[in-house]
Amino acid sequence: MADRYLSFTGTAPGRFLTRRLGLPQPTALHRWSAEHPSFTGELLHLGAGKSPLDGPDGLAAVLARTGLAVRARSERPVAVVLDATGVTDIDTLAEVHAALHPVVRSVARSGRVIVLGAPLATADHHQAAVQQALEGFVRSLGKEIGRGITVTLLRLTDANAAESTLRFLLSPKSAYVSGQVIGIGGAEVTAPADWALPLAGRTALVTGAARGIGEAVAATLARDGARVVCLDVPGAAVELESVAGRLGGTALALDITAPDAGARILAALPSDGLDVLVHNAGITRDRRLVNMAAERWSPVLDVNLASVLRTTDALLSAGGLRTGGRIVATASIAGLAGNAGQTNYAASKAGVAGLVRALAPTAAPEHGVTVNAVAPGFIETKMTAAVPLFIREAGRRMNSLGQGGLPVDVAETTAWLAHPASGGVNGQVVRVCGQSLLGA
Ligand code: NAI
Repeated sequence: MADRYLSFTGTAPGRFLTRRLGLPQPTALHRWSAEHPSFTGELLHLGAGKSPLDGPDGLAAVLARTGLAVRARSERPVAVVLDATGVTDIDTLAEVHAALHPVVRSVARSGRVIVLGAPLATADHHQAAVQQALEGFVRSLGKEIGRGITVTLLRLTDANAAESTLRFLLSPKSAYVSGQVIGIGGAEVTAPADWALPLAGRTALVTGAARGIGEAVAATLARDGARVVCLDVPGAAVELESVAGRLGGTALALDITAPDAGARILAALPSDGLDVLVHNAGITRDRRLVNMAAERWSPVLDVNLASVLRTTDALLSAGGLRTGGRIVATASIAGLAGNAGQTNYAASKAGVAGLVRALAPTAAPEHGVTVNAVAPGFIETKMTAAVPLFIREAGRRMNSLGQGGLPVDVAETTAWLAHPASGGVNGQVVRVCGQSLLGA
């Protein structure tokens, strides 16, 4: 279901009328396309405090590799990176204000503000306080800045381990990710031979790939060079074959809740195993708890959580995921914030976040595999087209970007987490929600 309001406000009469009526004026976001794969223009690099990321092979070198023109001053930056890793007290925190106050107004439409912070784990409670302060700062700026600009806080200790993340955030691929705090560990990372084809020679399996977000994920991973195995229920076999055929991948018609699903996936994989496992299949059976029979509870928990646990265990224990592998599961902001009528769905999606946080610290050393989740907000799909009009319109607008996301926004975030150079990103639940007000 197209967002007609967004199209209308993109026209001159629409802009005039909505301004006169004081209605929201969402900005059409700049997303990735083959014609416009990256931003062009200036990246304003600012600092607060004495940064530990300075140095010849540090942050400046990584930013220079993004292709943007890095400047210490800019009239119209497409992106601002403020290095606040050296913020240790109230005075250096004031430098964050001093650096950004004069420039926020000049950031280009659909641009980026990225604040870099230090990990919170410090014995110095003054430093912990001001580093935590950055979260309130970033989330507030995301809510007020407008013009389709996203604001993100990255916590890191090693700029090189954050290169794939910085490239993602400093590109049109992250158009709908805002108000997030993302932590990057100091993992050893190897740059791909070709940043445009990071998944070349790798195999990815996507569940629920016949349509919606799963189809977009399969297409985006294929664009990045992966051989894709597209899985969906036998009832969707025709659509599945068509998606897999278009992407040069293979179709696996299988109900993911089947007790032998793990074994059947293993049998369908190439002999060298799998590099990327995307748990995307999901269903809803909404009712308030008082009206929710067990028939509405069990299938939702089975598809959205139990099968994710079972297939993850089956693949990890059989060595089905190669070293350097990536697991990306699909949570939901409803799971993080709670949503009336969705006790079953939110329980399943909160469970996904729990699985990710618990498995990530052991899967990395034991299997060389990272485990993360995407948590979509309101995404324009058949699932949300079925939502009643007024709730749908509220879901679309109640976020900092004033619009719903597209399946490709979740797909791009998944591709970043699946990236071979994203080994430092582990145990994260990243919301793709335009900074939704739900549980913000
Ligand atoms: P969708 O309903 O359009 O697609 C889901 C796909 O999963 C379908 O092709 C379906 O056949 C497949 N599937 C369902 N049960 C299956 C099973 N037992 N075995 C194999 N495949 C199965 O849904 P959409 O919107 O693309 O959502 C994808 C994921 O994103 C789901 O996990 C959903 O919960 C999550 N999500 C979606 C949001 C949205 O706004 N659309 C918001 C938050 C999360």
